[in-house]
Amino acid sequence: MSSNTLKLQNINKHYGKYKHALCNFTYEFTNGIYGLLGPNGAGKSTLMNIITDNLLPDKDGGKILWNSEETRLLKDKFRSRLGFMPQQQNLYESMSAHSFLNYIAALKCLDRTYAEREIPAIVERVELSDSIDKKMGGFSGGMKQRVLIATALLGDPDLIILDEPTAGLDPKQRVIIRNMVSDLGKDKIIIISTHIVSDIETIAKEILFIKEGHLIDSGTIPTLVEKVENAEKSLENLYMQYYGEVQK
Ligand SMILES: Nc1ncnc2c1ncn2[C@@H]1O[C@H](COP(=O)(O)OP(=O)(O)OP(=O)(O)O)[C@@H](O)[C@H]1O
Ligand SMILES: [Mg+2]
Repeated sequence: MSSNTLKLQNINKHYGKYKHALCNFTYEFTNGIYGLLGPNGAGKSTLMNIITDNLLPDKDGGKILWNSEETRLLKDKFRSRLGFMPQQQNLYESMSAHSFLNYIAALKCLDRTYAEREIPAIVERVELSDSIDKKMGGFSGGMKQRVLIATALLGDPDLIILDEPTAGLDPKQRVIIRNMVSDLGKDKIIIISTHIVSDIETIAKEILFIKEGHLIDSGTIPTLVEKVENAEKSLENLYMQYYGEVQK
């Protein structure tokens, strides 16, 4: 079993002169599931896009280390270990799920024979085996999200980053995705962003609370819930305490 570390050191990101979207964000991740919690505009996508090298931090805006080496220097060696599901994505609705996954596998430069073996196994994992040859235009929201999760699993990555994989889904579909993520394996670093506490509270090893670009609290759920004041000690109440509302 491989053990990996991802270290974020003082990551800063401004959009324009005045919008400081990430402020000295520092954290160390080891194998396991992490929940990145925060409301709209907190900085979750900015952080994920920077980790995955889809967005540059500020000049001198910190370092990201993958197993002690800077991701900026590792380039493809890091990218090949990474599976990313960005927040805003379109599917090619006239393509079948199978063709789409083949296409993404090719973009990831995965060996064709390997991809042909791997795709059916991933599709089974995201419970889409019955629909693999159907056009994605007819898929429900939950099925589409699961195809996008499947793209993040191609190539057996060691670091999986899912930006709001449950966005727009009903509670039943959210549970399916939660169970799926929980089964992805303990020998990887998995980071999931959401503003829905129940998506991650039973599966995450640690939770990170992000607010206006700052990491305002983090840790295991038992240590976090101890900080709830004047209410039942639940993660949802801590979310209320930090953000003043619960988003459903
Ligand atoms: N390209 C951009 N230009 C200017 N400001 C931006 C840009 N992208 C994001 N922002 C701002 O940076 C802040 C963080 O945005 P970000 O998208 O990272 O938040 P988020 O936590 O992912 O929110 P959501 O839950 O809505 O996806 C917000 O105030 C947002 O308006
Ligand atoms: Mg976002």
